[in-house]
Amino acid sequence: DYIRWQSSIVHSYYDELDQLGYQNPLYKGRTSLFNDQISGGNLSLGLARVNLQDQGRYLCYASTSQKNQETFITLTVRGELKS
Ligand SMILES: *[C@@H]1O[C@H](CO)[C@@H](O)[C@H](O)[C@H]1NC(C)=O
Repeated sequence: DYIRWQSSIVHSYYDELDQLGYQNPLYKGRTSLFNDQISGGNLSLGLARVNLQDQGRYLCYASTSQKNQETFITLTVRGELKS
């Protein structure tokens, strides 16, 4: 069985392509993977134009035919008001 609860998709990738049809519009045009490094195990997500609303917990779920793995990271955003 496979069950998943998730509030929104930040970025998804399969069949060797970014698959952004169901991406939350808040992240549109701001996310990227390092595609040339995925096969070497680098699944890092690039997030551009970070804002305070981006702060929070992110789940990275990855699966291959051999295994599945998931990891949570917490993004903290700090800023300063400039006059
Ligand atoms: C993944 O690649 C990016 C771009 O080269 C780099 O900045 C990042 O540190 C790498 N992450 C890991 C976990 O190696």
